[in-house]
Amino acid sequence: MDPNREVIDEFRANSGRVPAALGGIFKDAKLLLLTTTGARSGRSTTTPTAYAEDAGRLLIFATNAGRPQSPSWLHNLRANPTVTVEVGDTRYDAVATEITGAERDRLYAEQAARDPAFAIYQQNTARKIQVVALTPARVSAAAAHLKEIHDGLRKQLDDTLATVDAYLAGNGQLPESTNDLQRHCLSFCSALHAHHTREDGVFPTLAATFPELKPTLDRLAREHETVAALNVQLTETLAQLTTAPAHETAVHLRDDLHHLAAELEAHYTYEEAHLGPALDAA
Ligand SMILES: [Fe+2]
Ligand SMILES: [Fe+2]
Repeated sequence: MDPNREVIDEFRANSGRVPAALGGIFKDAKLLLLTTTGARSGRSTTTPTAYAEDAGRLLIFATNAGRPQSPSWLHNLRANPTVTVEVGDTRYDAVATEITGAERDRLYAEQAARDPAFAIYQQNTARKIQVVALTPARVSAAAAHLKEIHDGLRKQLDDTLATVDAYLAGNGQLPESTNDLQRHCLSFCSALHAHHTREDGVFPTLAATFPELKPTLDRLAREHETVAALNVQLTETLAQLTTAPAHETAVHLRDDLHHLAAELEAHYTYEEAHLGPALDAA
């Protein structure tokens, strides 16, 4: 008999509530039911697990109560990231994504601060307890769309950088290389400006719908301002280069582009993780 059977039955009969006596290690936690597809067996398996909310997605933690081995649901969702989530009265399909690096460390530390049992689980095992985000499947499509737009902008910026490199390699001798550079730079700058203007227009609605997103949106809006200032600087350098071509101005332009690329990459990554899910749900 599945040791979780009684918890699952109680959960389903009581809109996600489980009597404390049955809760065991879950007794103080917010619980969801996670249904994964067996990596080898292909059979559906349902497991109660604690969760935390994080900007339109849910986070779960592969603690396995601090045991040395990861829970089987982790192996299952690595093989098949489409899962079913039951939380309270609702049930929906979701896409599971493992979170790694500094973001994983921050989210785990936050969970351990909310519930000290999680700090103990981590102390009891040598493995780094994995953190998994569950994003509703319909939302995941919007997040993918945002990433697609960013990928287009990433590619445009890469192409612009390649054009500057070609310009520098040819010492700006060929008139068409200056034209090329101007065309790439300006079309990238205007595409980026248009994208951020659209996002700035959506932020107030998102902040009203998801008050918990306010700090995220404030940060993104500040980053848009930083990027806009770099964009202006870049356009000025480009204007200088086209009116008075000089090697050092082209080098300056390349530096501006690299600086912008670094800022943008950090911005896109943060935005994809935190804003993508909310965009579709709005
Ligand atoms: Fe943005
Ligand atoms: Fe964006």
